[in-house]
Formats: sequence, C-alpha cells, structure tokens
Amino acid sequence: MTELSRTQKAVAVVNGTSALQVALRLVGVSNGDEVLTQALTFIATINAIIYNGAAPVFIDVDIDTMGLSPYKVERFLEQFAELRNGICFNKKTNKRIAACMPMHTFGFPVHLDELIEVCNKWNIPVVEDAAESIGSEYKGKPTGSFGNLGVFSFNGNKIVTSGGGGAIVTNDIELGIKAKHLTTTAKVPHPYEYVHDDIGYNFRMPNLNAALACAQMEQLDSFIQNKRSLALEYNTFFKTKGINFRTELPNTKANYWLMCLQLDNKKERDIFLKETNENKVMTRPIWQLIFKSPIYSGFQRDAQENAIYLEERIVNIPSSVR
Ligand SMILES: Cc1ncc(COP(=O)(O)O)c(C=O)c1O
Repeated sequence: MTELSRTQKAVAVVNGTSALQVALRLVGVSNGDEVLTQALTFIATINAIIYNGAAPVFIDVDIDTMGLSPYKVERFLEQFAELRNGICFNKKTNKRIAACMPMHTFGFPVHLDELIEVCNKWNIPVVEDAAESIGSEYKGKPTGSFGNLGVFSFNGNKIVTSGGGGAIVTNDIELGIKAKHLTTTAKVPHPYEYVHDDIGYNFRMPNLNAALACAQMEQLDSFIQNKRSLALEYNTFFKTKGINFRTELPNTKANYWLMCLQLDNKKERDIFLKETNENKVMTRPIWQLIFKSPIYSGFQRDAQENAIYLEERIVNIPSSVR
C-alpha cells in the first residue's frame, strides 16, 4: 500500500468513511470547526466532517477536474477568512477553518499544486479524499500523497476491493503512528495489559479483508490498464458521435474509476438516462449536490455555478475493469 501511495505510512481500516473521519481528527478538526470541501461528491465526504462535530463549507468545483477549485477556495478565503495568531477563522461564522478536503472525482485529480499553495498560505491542513482515485497521478505522484493525509477506499465498487476497507496514508510519520493508534482503540502497546490513552475507534481492517486487499492490490496495475484502454475506446467512439467523453488533463493520469460523459444540457441528460436504462445499459447521473439534501442545506456555500452546471450534464457509463 505504501508502494501504491509512495508515502511513509499507510494504515488499513474498515472503510473509506472511517478513514476520512479519523484523518480529519488527526489534522485537528473538532467540535465547532469548519472544513472546506465540495458539494459535488459522495455523501461520505460530508458525513465524515459531521462525525467530528464540524461543519462543511461548500466551495465550488472546477469544470475541468470536477473537483474542488483552488481559485474558488482562494476567492472564498479572501472574502471570508482572517488569520488570528496564525489560525484561520471564518469572519462570518467566527468558526475555525480547520481543514480543506478536496475529492478527486471519479479518479480525475484536482489541481493539487494550486490548492495546496492556497491552503498553505492560510495555514489550513489538507486531507485528500482519494477514495475514488487509487492509482491516479498528478505530475507523476499518486493522489493521496499530496495532503497532510490521504484516504483510499476498498469498497466493493472500487477498482480494488477488500469487500469493504480503506486506508489512511501520509508522509508524516508521527501522524501515521497516531492513525494506527486511534483506529485500534488507542491501546498502549503492551504484551498483556489493557491501557487506552485516548478515545479511539475499532476501525482496524479485519484480517480476512486484508488478505483480499493484498491479493487485489497485486492486480491494480492490470485493472487500471484495462480501464484506460476502455477509456481510449470510449473516447474514439464518442468522438464520432460528437459527445464529450471526459478524459484526463495534461500532467495527470486518471484511473478512470467511473467513466463519464458530459451532455449538452439537463434535457439531453434525462433522455440519455431514460433510453439507456430502458435498454438495460446501466447509466447513472452524477450525485445530487449535497446541499440540496435537507439535512445538509443549512451550511455556508459559494455560488456553485460549476457544480450546478456539471450536476445537470454528467452521466456515468459502464466502467468495468473487464
Ligand atoms: C468520494 C468518496 N469518499 C468516501 C467514500 C467512502 O468510502 P467507503 O465506502 O469505503 O466508506 C467513497 C465511496 O464509497 C467515495 O466515493
């Protein structure tokens, strides 16, 4: 796993959601804090923030990556944030902005250099939700290895699966040790005594799942190769139809976890979804923007133009490694 993320540490856990929960806690997110993230994501990204007693602040995505926009993050911070003794606060809510969590949508990396630069300027730690981007690269380095911590998922629908599972990866050795400690009930290592020095979690990946994960990891390269050659075929095919098949950006390598088309408008999207599903071709719309759900409607957000644009146009098409 460390080979995969090329980080100093990797800790296997029960799933990606718990990995995100602990990663946020490890960078210091706690009750009453805020976390900058995107609304165009799977719900687990946001749930992990709430599990820590913190609030999401929804910042727009970029059209080209479909992930958190460094430019929009910067614009938000310039308008709403101030540094107090080196700590970033939201002037509107008076809450601490304790982390930033980009998500690499469908395996397409966000603009990591620019995002990390903005976050460094405002002293905001970065947790990468790389649940969907196992094996993806940005400028030759694996996604998940850029932030203070990164998180992978080995859920049943991911490229490599352990049935269920996840991992926290980091180049910060101390944080890696803490990740292991917290996810294994914070038990102080001892041959027979039970001493726990923190409120930890029982998030250790079970051995049976770990055995599966190890076997699956050996096939990751070939799975990604298959995905990438399918993407190539799709790209050639959809070009002849004048339909926009989303491809990786220069300087990135996408794992093409879920392949997607960008249709011209919502009407076209709806027709496409209806006709394909009626003909037993499994296609799906991208997620509903998280703030549209009543449970998540009350949090601060920017204008979300790009997220709304993509929500109305992106559909996933069959993406099996086989
Ligand atoms: C973006 C994203 N974050 C987090 C998760 C949570 O991972 P898990 O299902 O392993 O809990 C998933 C997928 O399931 C995901 O797609």
